[in-house]
Amino acid sequence: MSDPELLLKRMVDRLAKGPIRTPAIEQAFRQVPRHHFLPDIPLDEVYRDQNVTTKEEGGVRLSSSTAPWVMASMLEQLQPEPGQRILEVGTGTGYNAAILARLVTDTGEISTVDVDDEVIRGAVQGLARAGHDGHKTPKGAARVTARASDGFLGDPDGAPWDAMLVTVRTATIPRAWVEQISPGGRLVVPFALRSVRHGQLSVGFEVREDHLVGSSYVDCDFILPRGDMSMVGRDLQLRDSRGLLWSDAGGDLSTEQILGLFDHPAYHRLAPIQADVRELIEDFQMWLVAHDADSFSLVARDEHLAWEKLTPMIERPGQFRGAGGLCDGSGLAMLGFSPSRELVIVSHGSPTCADRLSDRLLRWHEAGRPGRKQMRMSVYPSGHGPTPVAATPGVRIQEPWGDVCVDWP
Ligand SMILES: C[S@@+](CC[C@H](N)C(=O)[O-])C[C@H]1O[C@@H](n2cnc3c(N)ncnc32)[C@H](O)[C@@H]1O
Repeated sequence: MSDPELLLKRMVDRLAKGPIRTPAIEQAFRQVPRHHFLPDIPLDEVYRDQNVTTKEEGGVRLSSSTAPWVMASMLEQLQPEPGQRILEVGTGTGYNAAILARLVTDTGEISTVDVDDEVIRGAVQGLARAGHDGHKTPKGAARVTARASDGFLGDPDGAPWDAMLVTVRTATIPRAWVEQISPGGRLVVPFALRSVRHGQLSVGFEVREDHLVGSSYVDCDFILPRGDMSMVGRDLQLRDSRGLLWSDAGGDLSTEQILGLFDHPAYHRLAPIQADVRELIEDFQMWLVAHDADSFSLVARDEHLAWEKLTPMIERPGQFRGAGGLCDGSGLAMLGFSPSRELVIVSHGSPTCADRLSDRLLRWHEAGRPGRKQMRMSVYPSGHGPTPVAATPGVRIQEPWGDVCVDWP
């Protein structure tokens, strides 16, 4: 089937039964055809509700069109309103900016910035195909200004903004963003706790003068940012002659150190509690990242040496195996399921990580297995006075750019 109107209708019908809860967001998706922004992609793929990579170098994704279900979830977090002025960081194809333009209507304004000139040129063409041509806009839609700039600086010329939507992963919350959003405004951002990829959630923050309070948390997996201010340093891409291995490791571990640990014999022990994959990935993993700077995850593609060596926590046969746990350079310990589906801790090198992982699992269980649904996060960018410790029980992570407080009340 290749009728774009029908394909768009079916995609939005599915979104309306899933992440979309607001009629205006559903309407905006119906008004903006995605294929205008992905002209070289077969229509069936365009409307498959998945992420589409649009720029890649050496196996690293540099730009993409976010999966529509993730876009819809983040727009629900943002709740744009007619008349608002919104800044998007990470223009990509321009598709999301065009949807935002419908939501704020012709009384609002959208500014979108991308660090990549070439990406901006493509977005301007896509926006033109969708009716945003120079000063011309589709009826009822806001004007969109797309320009090349490092989004970690925000867009000071247009500030204050009513809201900001970031569509690239970040491990920092630059002060510029907080200062450029009006008090009470929203910031929706794919935030990677402790810089690790598996500590990533789209957080809907409300701006309260000098700090941010999170109120909604949605699954996402965005690409790494570029530019001098991005400060994401721990997403390692480990490569050896047999393929690719993706890893997140706390601290400053090198590729060689992590791969070298796999040369130590593997020790298996039964985990102190049992839990299913969903609980581990959605709930325990975020608890572990918040509580432990050595949190670690690993995804092995097929043909890689770690494929055979990895006792998987999650597996898609023939495609990937993944596991997570702790790694401190002298040893690593990961959770996985044995062939009889028992949760085990597999360790290489020093056993200290395995002991700690076992202890963390027990503490999470004793705390009532808190998950992301109960989680609360607030952010205090540095330079804005001390973090009110008493008001934020839980974990306080001190980063060079500010404090992140996480608790599970
Ligand atoms: C997932 S894509 C954005 C998807 C986009 N919103 C859409 O609707 O197609 C992320 C984009 O962020 C851009 N990016 C990376 N680092 C950036 C930075 N420091 N400032 C602004 N944009 C950045 C990338 O070039 C990429 O185009």
